[in-house]
Order: sequence, then C-alpha cells, then structure tokens
Amino acid sequence: VGQQVVIGSRSAERAAEVCAELTSRWPEASLSLRGADNAGAAACDLVVVATPWDAAASTAASVAEHLVGKVVVSMANALAKVGDELQALVPARGSVAQAVQAAVPGARIAAAFHHVPARELGQIDAPVDCDVLVCSDDDQARRATMELVGMIPGLVALDAGTLSAAAAIEAFTAVLLGVNRRYKTRATLRLVGIEESRRAVAG
Ligand SMILES: NC(=O)c1ccc[n+]([C@@H]2O[C@H](COP(=O)([O-])OP(=O)(O)OC[C@H]3O[C@@H](n4cnc5c(N)ncnc54)[C@H](OP(=O)(O)O)[C@@H]3O)[C@@H](O)[C@H]2O)c1
Repeated sequence: VGQQVVIGSRSAERAAEVCAELTSRWPEASLSLRGADNAGAAACDLVVVATPWDAAASTAASVAEHLVGKVVVSMANALAKVGDELQALVPARGSVAQAVQAAVPGARIAAAFHHVPARELGQIDAPVDCDVLVCSDDDQARRATMELVGMIPGLVALDAGTLSAAAAIEAFTAVLLGVNRRYKTRATLRLVGIEESRRAVAG
C-alpha cells in the first residue's frame, strides 16, 4: 500500500533474507522493504511488535530508547495449547498490550490486528475480510493505528476505546480459533450494525 517497511529481527541477516524472499515472491508489488535488527526497525515512525506474546514486552523494552513518543502497536495474543484447545492466558498487567505499555512507558501503545489471520494478511494481492478492533489510551496512537489498518484492502478499523479493552480483545482470539477448529473454517471478525459510512471513517 505504498508504505516503506523495515522488518526487524534479533538477526539482521535473517530479516534481510525474509525481505529478499518477499520481494522475489511479489515482484510486481514494488515493495519498499528493508531488513534490520530490532533496534533498526524500532527507529521507524510507527512500530509493530509482532513477536510471540511472552517476548513482546521484553523485546519492546530492549529497544525502549527508540520508542519514546512513538506509536507502538501490540498484536500479540497470550494463548496456551491445552489438549486440542488454545486457551487464553491472563498476562501480567491484564493484557500483552498493557504489559508492553508498562515496559516502555514513554511510548504510545495501541493494540490491533489480533483477529487477522496471518495467511490472508500475507496474501498481499487479495483483500483481507476482517474488522480490526483498535484500542489505546492515547487518541493519536489510536487514530494512527486505525489509519494504518484502513490502508490494507478489506480491513476495517473500529475504535475499541482505551487499552483496558485489550484483555478482552486478545482473549477473544482463543474463542475465534476454537470456533474455526470446530467448524473447520477460517472465519474472521465482522461486527454488524455499524453504518457503512461510519465504518469507512477512521477515528
Ligand atoms: N499468526 C497469526 O495468525 C496471528 C494473528 C494475529 C496476531 N498474531 C500475533 O502476532 C504475533 C506474531 O505471530 P507469528 O505467528 O508471526 O509469531 P512467530 O512466527 O512465532 O514469531 C514472530 C517472530 O518473533 C521473533 N521471536 C520469536 N521468539 C522470540 C523471542 N523469544 N524473543 C524475541 N523475538 C522472538 C522471531 O523473529 P527473529 O527470530 O527473526 O527475531 C519470529 O520470526 C504473536 O504474538 C501472535 O499472537 C498472530
């Protein structure tokens, strides 16, 4: 969608390999992609923390000096496999997003993308049919994150209020994954009853 993206990793080499792989997979998309270590990626204007949930706060803390004043999006879901099920865990502070906010108090944390399936999100030549609940204690962070979501064809950002909503949003992922497993499908989240014109407007 025309944004310059830096993919971070604990290994800059690994990030560069992933960028090369994506660029060769989507040659016609003219992707503006660059790999870096996590500090290099954290130097971007807007940062998405996309590690496993139990590494999100520590990863953000490890690059905290780069995140001061920035919008940082947490997308992690704290889930544990119990038998056949993925069950929601309650992380420290109540949600992963709140744990990330506590780890980097100088950053403006928003939470988003929890219910977007990775396979569809990675299929960049097709729209992703999903609503995205966005919450933050910082109005500017919520708006910037909703704008980012709105750039991705098919995704609709919905204002879910303050970061206190993150616990329920993250935990609901376990419900969605369980429904998908039982119905052998890949359902995403779509809320009905919001006027189309209002759904299109971020913030
Ligand atoms: N998969 C989905 O459909 C989906 C949907 C919505 C939200 N999410 C959430 O998005 C996040 C990422 O999901 P994913 O499936 O992409 O996860 P993943 O493949 O397991 O991890 C993403 C990257 O995090 C880094 N990483 C792994 N362990 C780490 C550690 N201990 N410390 C620091 N970095 C570590 C790795 O990069 P390097 O080794 O290169 O550093 C890895 O490639 C998760 O929190 C998940 O809950 C996933």
